[in-house]
Amino acid sequence: MAVRETVEFDLERIDRLIAEEEAALEPKHRASLEYRKVAERYVAGGVASSWQDAPPHAIFVERGEGNRLYDIDGNEYIDYHLGYGAMVVGHAHPKVVEAIELAARRGTHFAQPTKDLDVIGENLAERFRLPLWRFCNSGTEATLEAVRLMRAGTGRDLIVKIEGTYHGHHDSLMFSVVPDPATIGPRERPATVPQVPGIPRAFADLVVVVPFNDLDAAARAFEEHEGEIAGMIVEPAMMNCGVILPEPGYLQGLKDLCRRHGAFLAFDEVKTGATIAYGGAVEAFGVVPDIVCLAKAIGGGVPCGAVGATEEAFGPVVRGEYDMAGTFNGNPLTMAASRVTLTEILTHDAYAAFDAVHAALERGLGGVIERYRLPAYVTGIGAKGSVIYSATPVREFRDTIGIDERITYLAWLFQQNRGVFKSPWSKQETWTLSVWHTEEDARRYVENFEAFAAAVAG
Ligand SMILES: Cc1ncc(COP(=O)(O)O)c(C=O)c1O
Repeated sequence: MAVRETVEFDLERIDRLIAEEEAALEPKHRASLEYRKVAERYVAGGVASSWQDAPPHAIFVERGEGNRLYDIDGNEYIDYHLGYGAMVVGHAHPKVVEAIELAARRGTHFAQPTKDLDVIGENLAERFRLPLWRFCNSGTEATLEAVRLMRAGTGRDLIVKIEGTYHGHHDSLMFSVVPDPATIGPRERPATVPQVPGIPRAFADLVVVVPFNDLDAAARAFEEHEGEIAGMIVEPAMMNCGVILPEPGYLQGLKDLCRRHGAFLAFDEVKTGATIAYGGAVEAFGVVPDIVCLAKAIGGGVPCGAVGATEEAFGPVVRGEYDMAGTFNGNPLTMAASRVTLTEILTHDAYAAFDAVHAALERGLGGVIERYRLPAYVTGIGAKGSVIYSATPVREFRDTIGIDERITYLAWLFQQNRGVFKSPWSKQETWTLSVWHTEEDARRYVENFEAFAAAVAG
């Protein structure tokens, strides 16, 4: 294969460009900067969630419509952030608005089941090829329940997770999400690094961390802990180091491995589910795990979550031995929004449209990368994609360590200053498409990217 000649990023130039772009951005966000000070008086850090804030500052939003977002300064953006990927239906979709309005008039909460269960359950069963479902209110809750199901079903305690993946903010899995390279230990046996202070050491002792896309490493972990592992949770395509796709055979290999060792396999499809294909990673990669965790896109923008599993995995719940409970599980607003999202908006046609916009982005960005000889490439599938700033393919978290975050931050600033909203965390340079995004919107993204490429190439 011909080796592609690439330029090297000049980090001094990038520092200068960052200063220029930040100076251009600040006056556009006066109202956000002012309101932050007001919010800070009574709200810790002035934001509702720590990940709503990132350099250079939090941006407060007024409203959204379709693929457009408007901040409180009145700036209009094409939204590729889409609420961390939850708004694949776009903002204020008329069908979702109507469904929520109707549900709200009939009562917003009962903590009793309603008659949406069969339609939503059947739709999810068809998409993800798992027979039984339960509902919750976030991705965090979905993965928490998946972990507990795996432990309840096996009577074992250990869970295997991938280095560099995020599964929500509960204590069972918030390890080695974006670990400091100084603390991660050798690749053959990665350390289990807590992501935040406050997680007891005892939880770390229950989590075995392995690299993505490495079947041998996973097999070694199972052999070293024979008879102790309840299951493995994996984001079937990693979504928070840019998009990293599973290599052929990897997911099936994990399934066979878990089976051989009497353990469960759970896919965390909180980001991939109903975005990368109609049936998420299960359809895209042709592997059906024991458990699937969903949230984000399936709720049409209302807090949501779901766990799907085999009859075996759901056995303890069905038999009433394990209470999988939550006051707001199956809330009527969530169910109404989810029903219309799954049955009327995210239909098969929606995925053909994502593929067309993705292809336009891939062509356009790929062309810019070639012309400016950037050490970068485009990756993604369906409604999810990213530019990865590496000349060689990134297969796992450790491959991203050398990518200087100033590059991705500058790329973010270029988009933000030119009317494209991206998720605030720079290294994740990942986009989400909604059903409202067009090839024209892709052109805007590509134009901004070309401005970035021209500036960094000098
Ligand atoms: C793969 C994955 N799993 C779980 C979660 C947690 O979801 P939530 O923020 O809804 O709790 C996220 C959130 O970004 C995620 O990306």
